[in-house]
Parts: sequence; C-alpha cells; structure tokens
Amino acid sequence: MSYGLAAASRLAGKVILITGASSGIGEATAFEYANAAKGEIKLALSARRFEKLEDLKEKLISQWPNIKVHIASLDVSNVAKLTEYVESLPEEFKAVDVLVNNAGKALGVDKVGQILQEDIDGMFQTNVIGLISLTQLILPGMKARNRGDIIQLGSIAGRDPYPGGGIYCATKAAVRSFSHSLRKELIDTKIRVIEIDPGAVQTEFSVVRYKGSKESASKVYEGAEPLNALDIAELIVFASTRRENTVVAETLVFPTNQASASHVYRKKD
Ligand SMILES: NC(=O)c1ccc[n+]([C@@H]2O[C@H](COP(=O)([O-])OP(=O)(O)OC[C@H]3O[C@@H](n4cnc5c(N)ncnc54)[C@H](OP(=O)(O)O)[C@@H]3O)[C@@H](O)[C@H]2O)c1
Repeated sequence: MSYGLAAASRLAGKVILITGASSGIGEATAFEYANAAKGEIKLALSARRFEKLEDLKEKLISQWPNIKVHIASLDVSNVAKLTEYVESLPEEFKAVDVLVNNAGKALGVDKVGQILQEDIDGMFQTNVIGLISLTQLILPGMKARNRGDIIQLGSIAGRDPYPGGGIYCATKAAVRSFSHSLRKELIDTKIRVIEIDPGAVQTEFSVVRYKGSKESASKVYEGAEPLNALDIAELIVFASTRRENTVVAETLVFPTNQASASHVYRKKD
C-alpha cells in the first residue's frame, strides 16, 4: 500500500512493539509500519524463533537504513519472561506508542471431551494470559504519557464459535471481552484500543493448528481465496494512523467469499 505524508508524519519516531513477529500477520505488520513511516520508526519485534527475527531485522535494515529494530526471543505464555522482556528494552524502545498483541494460535480441531490439556493450556496461556499480561505491563507508560494504541488480534472465532474450535474460539471471545472493558476504562484518555478480527488468512496458522501437517493445512483453503498477511497488516497500520480523535474500535474482515466462520464459498475445480 502507498501511504500519504500524514501517515508517515503520524508514525515518525514512534515505538511499535509487535509480538509474534516471526511469521504471518506479525511479520507483515513490521514491514507495513516500516513502509508507512518510510523507515523513520522503531520496531520492537519478538517471537520464540529468534533466527526468523534476525532475518527479518536484516531485511528491514537493508530496505530502510534509518530504521531502528530491536529483536528478542520471547514466549508470551511465560508471564515472568514478559516482565523481564519489558524491563530489558533499550531506553529508546521503552516508551511504546503502539502495542500490537499479535502472538496467538489455534492448536487442534478436537471436540470437547477429547481436547488435550496441553493444547488448552497453550492456547489460553498465549492468546489470553500472555496478551493480558503484556497489556498490563505496557499500559502504565501509555497512561503516564496519555497516548498510545493497543491493537488486539481477535478473530471471527471470537464472535462466531464453531465445532472443533471450542478453546480457540473461547480465547478470542476473551480477547474481545477484555478489549471492550479496557476501552471503557480508558474513556477519559487518548489511548485507543483497536481490535482486528480477521476471517481466513493464509499464514502458518493452519500448519500450527494441524501440528505441522501441511496437507491438512492446505485443505482449509482449498478452492477458496483466503486473505494474506499483508491484507491484515494494512488494516492495522491504517487503524493506527488515523487522526487522534478517531478510534477504529473494531474491524471484522473477511476474504470476499467468506460470510461467517463456516460460510466460505469454494470453487469446485
Ligand atoms: N490466520 C488466520 O486465519 C487468523 C484469523 C484470525 C485471527 N488470527 C490471529 O492472528 C494472529 C497471528 O496469526 P497468523 O495468522 O499470523 O499465524 P502465524 O503465521 O502462525 O503467526 C503466529 C505468530 O505468533 C507467534 N507465537 C506463537 N506462539 C507464541 C508464543 N507462545 N509466544 C510468542 N510468540 C508466539 C509465532 O512465532 P513463534 O512460533 O516464532 O513464537 C508467530 O510469529 C494470531 O493471534 C491469530 O490467532 C489469524
């Protein structure tokens, strides 16, 4: 996407903290912020796979030599590590302007009664506890500065629960509920809470859900035209470059041939 001068000047020098930046939506969002700000931005990027972040950092710097990029290996499901991470951010990355709570996952499609405890824990710890805990750590600084954007990756799953998604849907409903409460709590501040609820986006998401089976993952999108990570990254950057009197409180975004979690048009051949 090509962004105007307003977007670039609204982002200039800002600190953007993105979790789950090693692939998919998080990675695309890092590129999209860099692009919108023409490199005049500071990106704090984390995920568990550090080598992927090293590649990403190299690509960002080769394209935008002025950009500042901090990378860290971080598992958001480990709450104690979140505190360490936030405390260890270099001085110039400490005042976070935009928090993109993106790290998240679905694990399996098992029905209730057969869901592995480790999958339940993995989804809740990452999608809910990690997101809430990091928000709690970043929010006091935003409150002190009376500005900042908190961008939550929700999902259609949080609005339209489906069989085989009992836990994942519940985690995204929790994100939605938490975000609504937070927006209300922050009513007298300039802090914006922005929830982005995508439908089907082709990333590593389904490979993770099917525990590494690329075959099962590709069946999810067979005959359909899913969104790609950039489609969502553009929305995230759009939302956080509106004038400060405007909050894109929530967006539900589908590929054109999707109308609910289960209504997806598929070509037959
Ligand atoms: N794709 C979709 O259809 C879709 C639809 C609606 C909502 N979403 C949401 O969008 C977000 C991004 O998903 P995606 O589609 O971009 O999937 P993805 O390609 O699998 O990316 C997920 C990212 O989260 C990171 N992550 C996973 N567990 C983590 C943990 N415990 N700690 C830190 N980072 C962790 C992964 O990095 P590491 O493995 O390196 O840690 C990866 O960078 C998720 O919250 C997902 O629920 C996706």
